[in-house]
Amino acid sequence: MLIESITPRHLTRAFELLTQGHLVAIPTETVYGLGALATSEDAVQKIFAAKGRPAINPLICHVLDIEMANRFAFVDPIAKGLAHAFWPGPLTLVLPRKGEAIAPSVTAGLPTIALRAPAHHVMRKLIEMLDQPIAAPSANRSGRMSPTLPQHVARDFDDILILDDGPTAHGLESTVVTIENGRVILLRHGALPIEALADHLGYTPAQEAVTETPRSPGQLLKHYAPKTKLILNSTTGPITLGFGTGGTLDLSPSANVQEAAQNLFAMLQTLDERAQSQGISEIHIAPIPSTGIGAAIHDRLLRAAHSAGK
Ligand code: TXA
Ligand code: MG
Repeated sequence: MLIESITPRHLTRAFELLTQGHLVAIPTETVYGLGALATSEDAVQKIFAAKGRPAINPLICHVLDIEMANRFAFVDPIAKGLAHAFWPGPLTLVLPRKGEAIAPSVTAGLPTIALRAPAHHVMRKLIEMLDQPIAAPSANRSGRMSPTLPQHVARDFDDILILDDGPTAHGLESTVVTIENGRVILLRHGALPIEALADHLGYTPAQEAVTETPRSPGQLLKHYAPKTKLILNSTTGPITLGFGTGGTLDLSPSANVQEAAQNLFAMLQTLDERAQSQGISEIHIAPIPSTGIGAAIHDRLLRAAHSAGK
């Protein structure tokens, strides 16, 4: 087992591994990331190989701050305003790419790059030590649920260093936006609620319509697939996931969406394993409000329900 506690020795080890072009699983405030030095094509290729990730799906580069973002992207005033308001934190900005320093496969041939300054001290420390961005998708095999615990990472990858900081704070991935004609467009619901963006912008960002060629290629792919079929908005079944309603497990006994987000992926995994081992064919999931981070919970549940068993 390569799950290690966060000590100066393990941080140094992680830094050395990243420098040498190896992968390290790193905690962030959203989910665990599978990190590689973003400027090394060889290292980044290892991410795609380890995850079984399609080459068309670009990666997020984790930077320290706006200054580092400026080295790799054109940060316009709107993006700068968003970064000032929400970085470090769970907001990813898709911006026009600048320069050739980032490994080409990170951006999957797109003229844009996805950047985020994470709020987790471990990820930040490693970026600071490298003085280079860390490319890191969620540390799961492609199509599976994102890991909110080091044990989830260990299940998918058996021979990498995993820095253990326990359960992640938000439990869901970052919100992804881009800017087009001076307007912010939502590409992926996530841990930063759309209401917070609307407060800052003075309008609610439009959500990209579902098309054959989305600007965020990841949106098209199979995602969060449990083995067991999911029945949404139901509290009656042999296995139930509640929301202040009790059940086999309850996402939040006090019906709080933040707490539900923190628990979502771990509880879904637990119930999926239980259903499979007991030969039960459905997991019923209670209704959840779509306000705040609830919108991202809905998004993930719809994708999970759609991909179940595939
Ligand atoms: O919270 C998170 O965002 C986590 C942690 C580790 O930071 N990372 C994460 O990465 O969720 P990943 O690879 O699972 O999701 C990245 C998303 C995908 O939907 C991808 O298509 C989109 O960001 N993306 C990346 N680069 C893009 C680009 N240049 N244009 C449009 N979408 C992009
Ligand atoms: Mg992912």
